[in-house]
Amino acid sequence: MGRLEPSIIWLPFAHAADAQRVELRTLGRAASRAAFRAATSAWQAEHGPAAWAGAALANDEHGAPHIAGHTGAPLISITHTRGLAGCAIAIPGAPAPGIDAEPLDSSGVSALRALAEETGEARHPWKDDAWPLRLWCAKESVVKAERFGADALGRTLRIEHVGTLEADRTQRVVVRSHRGRIHAVITAVVGEHVRAWTG
Ligand SMILES: CC(C)(COP(=O)(O)OP(=O)(O)OC[C@H]1O[C@@H](n2cnc3c(N)ncnc32)[C@H](O)[C@@H]1OP(=O)(O)O)[C@@H](O)C(=O)NCCC(=O)NCCS
Repeated sequence: MGRLEPSIIWLPFAHAADAQRVELRTLGRAASRAAFRAATSAWQAEHGPAAWAGAALANDEHGAPHIAGHTGAPLISITHTRGLAGCAIAIPGAPAPGIDAEPLDSSGVSALRALAEETGEARHPWKDDAWPLRLWCAKESVVKAERFGADALGRTLRIEHVGTLEADRTQRVVVRSHRGRIHAVITAVVGEHVRAWTG
């Protein structure tokens, strides 16, 4: 029997120090499609040959990605940010996964911290200074797992619980989504990025 977790591949990519937003997006999208191909190989190693291997990706009317032309193919999630792309492919028949990443030096951190102080989400037992990005990536991964956008600042999602038992770089977070559903998310600081994926 295969694993009960999505197949996830993270793929760092190189870029010029002064690369602009459009160029980063092009590089990131290409890297995320390479991550999809690598995740397809990992998925097949767990679950056996897939008729959809080699298929292209498409996006639905909300922007959510799917494997094109194969009804019944597993659900996927994509992320790409400065220097890092990722792809998660769900186990057969499972709900959509959600995956997100942000650079540790993201410009919006102080605004996220201020918003979380206002909502009370800052009072959870966060384990390190990366917590505003752990919070943000957790919420974004939940938006992706729901496959439906929320309000721009994520006020309609709520961090309900933050784990305290992890001894490593990870921290588990429980999020109530903008659709009222509870999601468990793993957040991790790896190199220059925070990563998050629904568990
Ligand atoms: C879904 C959303 C949050 C993704 O944000 P982002 O900064 O573009 O995220 P990333 O760059 O990490 O990932 C981009 C990928 O997200 C995926 N995506 C886009 N919309 C999606 C959706 N509605 N559901 C699931 N995945 C989605 C796409 O695969 C996209 O990559 P692609 O266009 O190359 O296929 C954003 O597009 C959105 O809808 N925002 C609306 C406001 C919102 O929900 N804010 C969240 C606050 S917590």
